[in-house]
Amino acid sequence: MLMSNASSIRCLITAGPTREFIDPVRYISNPSTGKMGFSIAEAALEAGWNVDLVAGPVALEEPKGAILYPVITAEEMLHQVDALFDACDVLIMTAAVSDFRPAIQHTHKEKKGEALMNIEFEHTTDILKTMSERKAHQTVVGFAAETENVVTYANEKLASKNLDFIVANEVGRAGSGFAADTNEVLLIAADGSSIKLGPATKSAIAEELIQLVTPTR
Ligand code: CTP
Repeated sequence: MLMSNASSIRCLITAGPTREFIDPVRYISNPSTGKMGFSIAEAALEAGWNVDLVAGPVALEEPKGAILYPVITAEEMLHQVDALFDACDVLIMTAAVSDFRPAIQHTHKEKKGEALMNIEFEHTTDILKTMSERKAHQTVVGFAAETENVVTYANEKLASKNLDFIVANEVGRAGSGFAADTNEVLLIAADGSSIKLGPATKSAIAEELIQLVTPTR
């Protein structure tokens, strides 16, 4: 089996949260800081890969050498990933994409009162699943952020989203998941094999992850 020439590998990475607006001054989102995705982008660059980084609103320095595509909403992330997917060899979706958005986005600030007491939501598109359904040569890697039954839910997502790998990540406790500098994850492959990464810094985990998901041709 021959390893791909590192410089020819094009990697598409998503990172950070999305924001789904209720009106111009209010939105729903989540605590993702984008650190894991940006660390993976750094590690991929370090490995000599070309990196497209689609990032929701984050306060992180742009990895030098990556092409950064800033987005805000899940819909914008979907369109950007859709535009870049066919040219990539590896898709790594670390983004904490909002699963819901308000069914109505008001164009003017809603005044406090009855109007905002009940908000109807609709589902956003599952970006990872949509890309996976049309994958050709791509290696597709998803993240499963879970607070309980981490491995069971991650395995379900690996199968239902037709992924090559899923990173099972427990969130909601100190030293792991959202906003932390460190993490501890389980990388599960489609053949059922798995490997624990960490506890370690997100950078160290990212380096190992990039080695493990390197496409072979
Ligand atoms: N994801 C995506 N598009 C969405 C929601 C999630 O591409 N609209 C991706 C995430 O980037 C992640 C994977 O799907 O790589 C799993 O996301 P997660 O939020 O853990 O799971 P969901 O599929 O949203 O399911 P649930 O919220 O029920 O756990």
